Amino acid sequence: MGELMLVTSGKGGVGKSTVSFYTGLTLALRGRKVLIIELDTGLRSLDVIAGISEQTVYHLGDVTAGRVKPSEAIVSSPLCKNLQLLCAPFSPEDRIEPHRLAWLCQGLDRFYDYTFLDAPAGIGYGFKVGCTAARSALIVATPDPISARDGGVVCDLLAEAGITRRRLIINRVDAKAVARGPISDLDEIIDTVGARLLGVLPESTALHLAAVSGRALPEGEAATAFANIARRLEGEQVPLAVQ
Ligand SMILES: Nc1ncnc2c1ncn2[C@@H]1O[C@H](COP(=O)(O)OP(=O)(O)OP(=O)(O)O)[C@@H](O)[C@H]1O
Ligand SMILES: [Mg+2]
Repeated sequence: MGELMLVTSGKGGVGKSTVSFYTGLTLALRGRKVLIIELDTGLRSLDVIAGISEQTVYHLGDVTAGRVKPSEAIVSSPLCKNLQLLCAPFSPEDRIEPHRLAWLCQGLDRFYDYTFLDAPAGIGYGFKVGCTAARSALIVATPDPISARDGGVVCDLLAEAGITRRRLIINRVDAKAVARGPISDLDEIIDTVGARLLGVLPESTALHLAAVSGRALPEGEAATAFANIARRLEGEQVPLAVQ
């Protein structure tokens, strides 16, 4: 049984899709089979981040509605064939039925070591659909106190949904500000969200530029942070540090 992880946040724009893609790519480059399923119906972004806009003909809604087979809608990343992507529908009308997503994930499980469900922002329909299929969760928050508080709300809802393995990535951390000490303590964010820390990602122009053009990450702080996150997911003991 592979890892089936909902990537969620509460607050929007904190980096869920970016984290899903580069965590998935890092694991795939280590030889793991990885699938990212985007749940953000009507507001998709994974095709751009992954650089597959031109190749994407069918989407998740086509699969869950039975219009096409999963293999017709799943696209391999041009950066690594071990990383495969199933993008969200374009139209907000194309609702994903929770039991159909759960059925799809169960059917695909044996082909993948990791499946990441990239949730839309908030605690609405898409979040609930993701909760029905996922076995674990990755909460993404930034050092912004509102993002941390929203992450805490999401963490409680995940617990209510029976998802006991919940981990946290703190994204967009300014390492220099942490060293100077004025930004809110990372421990405070961990306490507010209430999930175990999996990793800290730096604020990074290199990451942003790669993510808007479907490129691999150049060597540097962000790539190192993703490598450490991937190693921890694989069960390695890697000391936590702000990169
Ligand atoms: N660590 C980072 N450093 C710099 N830019 C980042 C970082 N993480 C994410 N970004 C940028 O922030 C923006 C939002 O990221 P992303 O789309 O991954 O967020 P999201 O949580 O998936 O948003 P939504 O809630 O709309 O689904 C993107 O432009 C992305 O490149
Ligand atoms: Mg997103």
